[in-house]
Amino acid sequence: MSKKTIMDFRNMKSRGENLVYLTAYDAQIARLQEEIGVDMILVGDSVGNTLLGYDSTLPVTMDEMIVFTSAVRRGAPDTFVIGDMPFMSYQTDDRDAVANAGRLIKQAGADAIKLEGGRRVASQVEAIVEAGILVQGHIGLTPQSAGQFGGWRAQGRTAETALGILKDALALQEAGAFSILVEGVPNQVTRVLSERCEIPIYGIGAGRECDGQLLIVYDMLGLFELFEPRFVKRYGELADDIREMLSEYAQEVRDGSFPEDKHDYGIPSEELDKFVAQAESEGLV
Ligand code: KIV
Repeated sequence: MSKKTIMDFRNMKSRGENLVYLTAYDAQIARLQEEIGVDMILVGDSVGNTLLGYDSTLPVTMDEMIVFTSAVRRGAPDTFVIGDMPFMSYQTDDRDAVANAGRLIKQAGADAIKLEGGRRVASQVEAIVEAGILVQGHIGLTPQSAGQFGGWRAQGRTAETALGILKDALALQEAGAFSILVEGVPNQVTRVLSERCEIPIYGIGAGRECDGQLLIVYDMLGLFELFEPRFVKRYGELADDIREMLSEYAQEVRDGSFPEDKHDYGIPSEELDKFVAQAESEGLV
């Protein structure tokens, strides 16, 4: 199947078709996602939590995002891949924003970039779009600024904050974003954004009434256990499965039942005889 484009995403919105969106951080998961026809993959800076063991996304660097985005690109060559802009790679000024967005496209092979914030990053979005790069906005509960929200909490639950989110969405659309990801916002607010914006609105923890759904792949596989946001649905318990397999391996190594004969490469008997004879003649055994 050929890679989807922003025209496909717009057409899906106008047909009311939900887009399937997942994060990935490595080539193997990306390959499986491409195989089952995921529409869009985000190489999120959530890699800081899921894979790198940080307790937030803030320490993630551009160089790390290049490594993970390149891996996903290799695993899913025919899927639309978005590289996430890590903390402080675009907040400083338009010039940094364009240069770092360019690295994700040029060095890592991303099809688009994503950055957090609404009105306050409209200038960076405009500059990146002006440079010919596709931008996905990210508003609502934006993890890079969770400290300013007083922690990891849903946004848009008052008239004032809901209005702020709508203004952010319109500012991003105006600045040229091709789509917007809305995180941690009530369904009723997301619906207004989706109806009001011409560009697709995708949600994570933002209810059903938008143009597609994102989940963090480690969450939906049941692999990330440190915390489980309310919006996550686990489609499996991979951490339990892995624990079980690791324990079985450890047990078999300890009791000698692994490896079995079938795991051995073998050597032809005449070669073995020659080897032993030679080793003996050289006094090695
Ligand atoms: O980094 C990420 O995976 C994200 C999601 C939390 C939306 O930005």
